[in-house]
Amino acid sequence: MVKGESALLRFRIITISATLVILVSLILSCTSPGETPGLPPEEDESAKEDPKITFGNGGAPFIEPFEAPLEPIPVLEATLRRNPDGPDVVTNPSCTLVLVNKDRNLPEDFVPANLVQPSVPFPFEGDLPRKRMRQDAAQALESLVATAAEEGITLYGSSGYRSYQTQAQIFEANVRRRGEEEANRFSARPGQSEHQTGLAMDVTSPEVGFTLTQQFGATPAGRWLAENAHHFGFIIRYPEGAEDITGYAYEPWHLRYLGEEHARAIYEADITFEEYMEGR
Ligand code: DAL
Ligand code: ZN
Repeated sequence: MVKGESALLRFRIITISATLVILVSLILSCTSPGETPGLPPEEDESAKEDPKITFGNGGAPFIEPFEAPLEPIPVLEATLRRNPDGPDVVTNPSCTLVLVNKDRNLPEDFVPANLVQPSVPFPFEGDLPRKRMRQDAAQALESLVATAAEEGITLYGSSGYRSYQTQAQIFEANVRRRGEEEANRFSARPGQSEHQTGLAMDVTSPEVGFTLTQQFGATPAGRWLAENAHHFGFIIRYPEGAEDITGYAYEPWHLRYLGEEHARAIYEADITFEEYMEGR
């Protein structure tokens, strides 16, 4: 290798290493609500070549195949604290893209910041925690419900934020009613519910008597939601036929806020949130 090429290779190794470090730190340090983890490399300005830098080849950049010297740290592993004596806990509970499921628990004391009540109808009265969501998600839900109404679809909020303790009570009550194995198919154990993130809202409609039932998915409101939620940054988090991946039976009512970019990508690829995050 000639001297100029070797200098260029060293420069590119340093640049790409620095970019990887910045991306991983962005993902690991996602602590403010509304923030999404590191941008993919093609959208990260720091990953682009500086056009001012040339290397004595007449200004034309060298275009050599280049292997990154570092393995990127898988996002899911990097955002999980393994605990040999108890549940594994996510380290990014405030991230819009936090993945919470039966293998990835929220910290027991985690309470999201900026919980507000969206201006959408609820089929019950009162200033209740379950009417709240994180502010970014609440605004998106307001747009979704208002647009649905313009298109003749009536949607109501039913259940949003739940604390760890509330989820524990709900799960225990479901176990008493249906047994633990069955309860675990539709009700999350405390620490394992997206409702604790403030990014989820169960929605319903008058057609199903404001209940949470799988029949909702086949109603005009349920179909509208499945086809349009992504325009507002939401996904149907527990789609039909994906229990072996998500851990839960079909819930056409459970909306999870991810922001428009990610919700649209998941909708278009017709995959679960688990599959989406595993590919990142
Ligand atoms: N029904 C969902 C899985 C929850 O309890 O969070
Ligand atoms: Zn739900």
